[in-house]
Amino acid sequence: MELIRKPHAVCIPLPAQGHINPMLTLAKLLHARGFYITFVHSEFNYHKLLDSASLDSVEDFQFETVSDGLPPDNPRGILDLAALACNLPVHTLDSFRQLIKKLNSSPDLPPVSCIVSDGVMGFTLKVAREFGIPEILFFTASACGFLGYLQFEKLVEKGYFPLKDESYLCNGYLDTTTVEWTPSMGSVRLRDLPTFLRTTDADDILFNYNMESANNAVKTGSLILNTFDELEQEVLDVLKTKFPELYTVGPLPLLRQQICDPKLDSIKSSLWREDEKCLQWLDGKEARSVVYVNYGSLVIMTPKQLHEFAWGLANSNYSFLWVIRPNLVSGGTEVISQEFLDEIKGRGLILDWCPQEKVLSHPSVGVFLTHCGWNSTLESICQGVPIVCWPFFAEQQMNCLYACTQWGIGLEIDVDVERGEVEGLLRELMEGKKGVELREKVLEWKKRAERASRVGGSSYVSFDLLVENLKGGMH
Ligand code: UDX
Repeated sequence: MELIRKPHAVCIPLPAQGHINPMLTLAKLLHARGFYITFVHSEFNYHKLLDSASLDSVEDFQFETVSDGLPPDNPRGILDLAALACNLPVHTLDSFRQLIKKLNSSPDLPPVSCIVSDGVMGFTLKVAREFGIPEILFFTASACGFLGYLQFEKLVEKGYFPLKDESYLCNGYLDTTTVEWTPSMGSVRLRDLPTFLRTTDADDILFNYNMESANNAVKTGSLILNTFDELEQEVLDVLKTKFPELYTVGPLPLLRQQICDPKLDSIKSSLWREDEKCLQWLDGKEARSVVYVNYGSLVIMTPKQLHEFAWGLANSNYSFLWVIRPNLVSGGTEVISQEFLDEIKGRGLILDWCPQEKVLSHPSVGVFLTHCGWNSTLESICQGVPIVCWPFFAEQQMNCLYACTQWGIGLEIDVDVERGEVEGLLRELMEGKKGVELREKVLEWKKRAERASRVGGSSYVSFDLLVENLKGGMH
């Protein structure tokens, strides 16, 4: 197709790993369906990606940048999320406006025909309206997690938020206070809802930012989610009452395998350098004999928690691949001492960052110990690997609840992790009866996910509908 007549989608994720990955996959899928793509990174991330040579040039797929408003030396970790939330709607909004203006005045590019924006970057709707360009929001969390954010307004109305004082955080209040949920689950506890509610400050930036993001999305009436119908049917039925146009296009990694040209695999989005040596190491291990441990891109733990994980893993006697991100621990990593390394010699491999999808698809991996980030949870389902859940923040508690009680694919570790519990749960999952049950369940979900992503499957059909509507200028 002549370039100038191609539909042109501008895709803008929140500048964080767990948001960039699914948005990039969605962008690749749209490219496969004939869209010209402008993918928008923050300047900071773009330079980080350039450093690791992840931005190969593919025809009709270009990268642009916007400012995230933070100073260059800001580490952009979890503690900086509130600062990011303050800056995005001001600096990034302005920067995004200039970008759209530039793109639309370029004679070499097709005019921008739609914007696909992260649901937590809903301020971009303002720019879309100014330029008369249709926009759709993509919430990268689970449907159940998103429904959790939609409860925030009710928590305020009912007087549950803000929490009265600090004791409400630890006296069982979060465990015993419930909100209405879906027909078969009845209600859920406050402790299962996104963790941003855990504050006594009515003006808490992240609580209010997430509440407004969810509420703004409802006003648009349309939404894209990285899930599949069978997995979250009941929650999706509730969401459909608020979103007449609901596109469920997950798991995105499976749809990507079905639809995208493998040459697009050269476009990567990892903000840390992937250490590929673990794949060879896994080759040398027996089938389903390895515990894979990874807490995603934002978790921060204490040295004590690291200590408990370390000795839980060591005492289990299983082989393990453990990713300890450079900024994972607040304080020192002294526990990874020579004594510990000697103890795990030959059976423990510790890395900064790995190619997670490839690791999970490796036959040697038996169990995934995860923080339950939505991408990690889905990627584990795609590969039929049961999970040990240590949810940390945001909607990870909700993902954990569903994994353990609804989908039957996971076991939860207490937030105050202890080595004995780590060892016990790993043993249960690797060799126990429970492990057999959970593995059967997750393999069933894997099959359902594959069915949803094949031609004629629910996610495949939903994606085609999305493409049709984006090409038609939406309504
Ligand atoms: C989180 C979650 O998306 C979500 O629960 C919450 O809203 C806030 O952000 P993150 O903690 O990074 O993101 O977890 P996850 O959603 O699992 O995404 C991590 C991504 O990085 C996955 O796609 C995973 O495959 C990839 N990854 C992680 C690697 O490629 N290598 C690694 O070593 C670790």
